[in-house]
Amino acid sequence: MSPADVEHFMNLAREAAERAYCPYSGFRVGCVLLGKGGEVFRGCNIESCAYSPTICAERTAAASAIAQGVSNWEAVFVVSPTSVSPCGVCRQFLHEFSPELHVYIGALDAGSKDFLGPIRLTELLPLASGLQQSSLGRRK
Ligand code: THU
Repeated sequence: MSPADVEHFMNLAREAAERAYCPYSGFRVGCVLLGKGGEVFRGCNIESCAYSPTICAERTAAASAIAQGVSNWEAVFVVSPTSVSPCGVCRQFLHEFSPELHVYIGALDAGSKDFLGPIRLTELLPLASGLQQSSLGRRK
């Protein structure tokens, strides 16, 4: 993927962050999940006054993609105030469908140099849980 493409999807993720519902944390997260066929799914974090029902931007995008019949993904782009990397729950959730996913992490502020990517999801989640085969066999 070209640097211009990466910048494009990071900017779409920044737009997605504008829809975040985060009155409790004030921490706005935006995400773009890119399907292998070029499909684009946006996500944002959605919080709840009961706290635990809160859903991260990554899982919002993933749920949207799956509901629309696309579960084979090329890349995920995540932006937030502090360039947070996907939480453990989201890593496992994404891994279920696309373990080879490329992850790009950056800041909400388009001028920031705080950026990481591409990094493989398998690097972020070594020894991921999976029922299909022995997880231990994947240890290098
Ligand atoms: N959050 C995400 O949406 N994605 C992440 O990768 C980390 C955290 C959200 C959850 C919560 O709404 C807020 O950020 C603060 O944790």
